[in-house]
Amino acid sequence: MNSALEKIGSTLREKIKDCGQGHLLRFIGELDPASLLSYLDQLNAVDWENLDALIRLNLIKKKDAPIRRDISPAPYYPYPPVDDKLKALYKTAEKEGVSLIKSGKLALLTVAGGQGTRLGFDGPKGTFRISPIRGKTFFQYFSEKIIRAREKYQTNLQWLIMTSSANSKATSEYFSMNKFFGLPRDSVHFFTQGMMPAISFDGRLIMESKNSLALSPNGHGGALSALKDSGLLNKISKEGVEILSYFQIDNLIAPPLDPLFIGLHRIENSDVSSRMLSKTGPCEKLGNFCVSEGKLNIIEYSDMPPELAEKTDEAGNLSFIAGSPAIHIFNVEFIRSLTAPDSGLKLPWHRAEKKVPYVDDDGKVIHPEKPNAIKLETFIFDCLPFARKTIIIEALREEQFSPTKNPEGIDSAQTCRAMLVERDAKWLENAGIKVPRKPDGGADCLIELSPLKYLDAEDVLLRKSQIKIPGRGKENYYE
Ligand code: UTP
Repeated sequence: MNSALEKIGSTLREKIKDCGQGHLLRFIGELDPASLLSYLDQLNAVDWENLDALIRLNLIKKKDAPIRRDISPAPYYPYPPVDDKLKALYKTAEKEGVSLIKSGKLALLTVAGGQGTRLGFDGPKGTFRISPIRGKTFFQYFSEKIIRAREKYQTNLQWLIMTSSANSKATSEYFSMNKFFGLPRDSVHFFTQGMMPAISFDGRLIMESKNSLALSPNGHGGALSALKDSGLLNKISKEGVEILSYFQIDNLIAPPLDPLFIGLHRIENSDVSSRMLSKTGPCEKLGNFCVSEGKLNIIEYSDMPPELAEKTDEAGNLSFIAGSPAIHIFNVEFIRSLTAPDSGLKLPWHRAEKKVPYVDDDGKVIHPEKPNAIKLETFIFDCLPFARKTIIIEALREEQFSPTKNPEGIDSAQTCRAMLVERDAKWLENAGIKVPRKPDGGADCLIELSPLKYLDAEDVLLRKSQIKIPGRGKENYYE
């Protein structure tokens, strides 16, 4: 037997063959020792025991699990408050939130392990230059917000960042190279999510080269087990962290910590809480907050039956108006219970048909013109139905949601920059500072407030006497 095959080991070889994946061993005789070793790591990471069932289930079903027909729109706390009772509740909640933040019981959780394929940027999405004047990257912008939050709330805030093996090295090197943008190094914790192999339509794992499977990150749902497996969940829990504030790296204006939201979560004794937005239309690409059998679910836009998405109430408003900007709060204890060895939690896999390059029998890389494979991902919000208690509170879109998914058009770098300028303009105007505007109402200049000083509208109010009026047609950067 050739020595490379021997190195693979008979048990692994048998598992591979038993699963009908013998083609994965085609080229191993040609691999140098280093490539063989890394390929072995990939093969060992595959869940061979469950692979057969996983392939059968996900290839046979053309869609994800059918949507139940008993679903109804999820209730939520409106924002701004609609009456005095809510106003008083929100005031109390905000105080509670501030005291929780100050007590060190809160840490931040950011998912940044995705491949950002739609953006088409070569590198971790967090290293994409996004701010409108200084071209700060997502990572820099959030680092600066966190520095200001640490100062404002006098707390040793910890930041947990999920990467994937596709971008973990580049991400940690980027932070090191930039001296963590001024954050204490020991307050930033990277952890790596798992990867999933792409599966061809005939049920074979795809090889992207002679020494590599075609792998992709296992979805933001991978954060739950990755937090546990990395030991971080235990570590922060021992350090007294009770609550995680979750946001996605590509939502530049997401508030990393939001006292009202955090306080309401605590007052309501919730396990998981979510911000919601009124959707711009029935088909906006947001998850939909729904209730089924008394449990809160988020149904991805692509899975929402059109008749439900388009359903309206008597006043003509969308019934399923609540869309998810992917801003959540998780109790650490809830994640611990979900990931405990006896919990048996398995988040459902969501499939997407994709064009995945592969090597043919001659070892030549083929770039298919049509989708040829499925990629599988889990979504973090699929843990919502397991929560004992959940709450949802409305967010102002212009204050919390500017997703960057595409290079241009809807949800793009362009729209994100425009939203940031508009948000900063509003914060200035809120402090009584005049912003030059065009006849159509848009700001007639560029504005960028440095998050090192201006975490929120309150910070602008605090410093308003030092702020110069923005010049028409100019780039106005405030630091
Ligand atoms: P998206 O689902 O929008 O994916 O991720 P993406 O990778 O940014 O972009 P596309 O779909 O390839 O174009 C939403 C958030 O979840 C993170 C992303 O980094 C982003 O912050 N994410 C996504 C992960 O951390 N891991 C994943 O496996 C998928």
